[in-house]
Amino acid sequence: MNDTHRIGRFYDSLDSVAYGGDYNPEQWGPEVHAEDTELMRKAGVNLATVGIFSWAKAEPAPGAYDFGWLDTHLDRLADAGVRVCLATMTASPPAWLARLHPETLPVMEDGTRLYPGSRQHWCPSSPVFRDHATRLVEQLAGRYADHPALALWHIGNEYGCHISRHCHCEVSTAAFRAWLRERYGTVDALNEAWCTDFWAQRYGDFDEIHTPRSAPSFRNPAQQLDYRRFSSDELLACYLAEKQVLERLTPAVPVTTNFVPVARTLDLFRWAPHLDVVSYDSYPDPHDADSAHGTAFSYDVMRGLKGGQPWLLMEQAPSAVNWRRRNGRKPDGRMRLDSWQAVAHGADSVLFFQWRQSRGGAEKFHSAMVPHGGPDTRIFREVGALGAELAALPELFGSRPERADAALLLEWPSWWALELDAHPSSDVTLLDTALAHHRPLYDASVACDIVPADGDFSPYRLLVVPNLYSVSSATAERITDYVAAGGTLVMSYFSGITDEYDRVHLGGYPAPFRELLGLRIEEFDPLPEGVTLPLGDAGTGSLWSEDIVLEGAEPILALGDGRPAVTRHTYGDGTAWYLGTRPDPATLRTLMDRIRTEASVAPTEADLPEGVQVRTRITTDGRRLRIGLDWRDGSVSVTEQE
Ligand code: GAL
Repeated sequence: MNDTHRIGRFYDSLDSVAYGGDYNPEQWGPEVHAEDTELMRKAGVNLATVGIFSWAKAEPAPGAYDFGWLDTHLDRLADAGVRVCLATMTASPPAWLARLHPETLPVMEDGTRLYPGSRQHWCPSSPVFRDHATRLVEQLAGRYADHPALALWHIGNEYGCHISRHCHCEVSTAAFRAWLRERYGTVDALNEAWCTDFWAQRYGDFDEIHTPRSAPSFRNPAQQLDYRRFSSDELLACYLAEKQVLERLTPAVPVTTNFVPVARTLDLFRWAPHLDVVSYDSYPDPHDADSAHGTAFSYDVMRGLKGGQPWLLMEQAPSAVNWRRRNGRKPDGRMRLDSWQAVAHGADSVLFFQWRQSRGGAEKFHSAMVPHGGPDTRIFREVGALGAELAALPELFGSRPERADAALLLEWPSWWALELDAHPSSDVTLLDTALAHHRPLYDASVACDIVPADGDFSPYRLLVVPNLYSVSSATAERITDYVAAGGTLVMSYFSGITDEYDRVHLGGYPAPFRELLGLRIEEFDPLPEGVTLPLGDAGTGSLWSEDIVLEGAEPILALGDGRPAVTRHTYGDGTAWYLGTRPDPATLRTLMDRIRTEASVAPTEADLPEGVQVRTRITTDGRRLRIGLDWRDGSVSVTEQE
């Protein structure tokens, strides 16, 4: 059964946008459970995510499963009309696993082993861990396959969140070697790809290769890059091992896993095809007055992972979190605004971490839908009001987010390569650049999709390519073809520099894009911290400058010293813009407004004041629902467009 069919079951099981959160009944007694059911009804909860951290409770000793308690809760939820997103419980293994198999504990690059007592203490390459995890999943799937509450499987939790750099134990090292063998076939091919004649790094055998552990100086860049690919793949293999069990035992039930705020760790475009629906955890900082844009960007990424398909907001905080230095609460109405922002950008759920605020443990000061103070609190009142509001708009659920005319290209391996050490500047980072170039579109309420390097660019009039440092010849050709066919491209500096093995594309930077951009770059000249150069009449450039030699491109803006810094080149039927510095926000806005206007890319609505965002969702019967988010006063409006 493919994912389009499976996900239908999820949509069939609910009447409106999924509303609820992580539910951890094992932390409470029966009186509280009774109150939970009642309060869930009051709050309009229709979906609870159950069992994320329940492995130790469900399997108190190896192979001795105890699901009686879970039966009771799932039955109770089903009776109350609450559907369940059931976790496979494998995010955090019980302490006995580490006692019996200490080799399942992850080892950091300096050799430090991480111990139980927190969470996520497992080595992704460990066959022992995978074996215990999949056996638990078999039990769960066998037992609950036909349970009326089951709407969706939640595999693991936030893969790669705490152990973002994988593991360096002996098992992981052997797995890395096997992965390299598979990728390169022969050690000579690896030597060639990794340029190992540099610093006497040539290998005679795969068994001489290690994961990139602590070393005296810069480690081989291609080794680091492949290790990142390997780490993402190993975590994916853990996910897939569980998914296979679920597919075998519950083929009709859709599966998901929740991704952490757009992080480098996982190549999400490689993961997404294996999820029936993408899920995301979002934690904007209430103390950051500017957080709405970054959040919108991450939501655009989530929508882009499956080509515009709606996604699930699996977690957000009703108010404060507990893991920043200073954890601000969300002011009145902010939780509602945050929730509608997710829906506007394509979410089909508004779920929270968590239902009831824990009494003990490391997250007792993290807000929850039912706070320590109980239901007679501002948070619970807001939770109830939002639940009622969402339930009153059933047509929203399953509606399609409108496709944008602009797209921004995001590519994980290039992101990893860009941020390797020993570069012209360590301050050129992908998220920073991507956000800076997404921002002028966002501020003008121009919708923007996110596409992978191997995605289809043809539906878009404008393609923004921030810092595509590493690029294969095939991708470079596709970008070139897109422009030749009439597309408009905006590419920022330090793009097209190396291939997928981090070897420089020779022939003058950026060799694969020289002809397209109509220029070449002789030398990079990153600017010192805090230094800006005049740019054009009134602007400034920061972070980066370079010596651009024009080969057909028209200089649009120059730096104060006369070097071209923004150029435009007609290529085929299209136009290729190039930015050789980071313009200040106002200059970049003026520039992007011009570029997108020339490319006929308009805001989602004419004459919107700054600070107002509008996005449209199209219902299954073709009606257009306009969601307006006013960040100036925090108001939200949902109306039907003519
Ligand atoms: C997420 C995690 C949850 C909870 C939450 C707190 O990263 O999945 O289990 O810890 O953060 O903000």
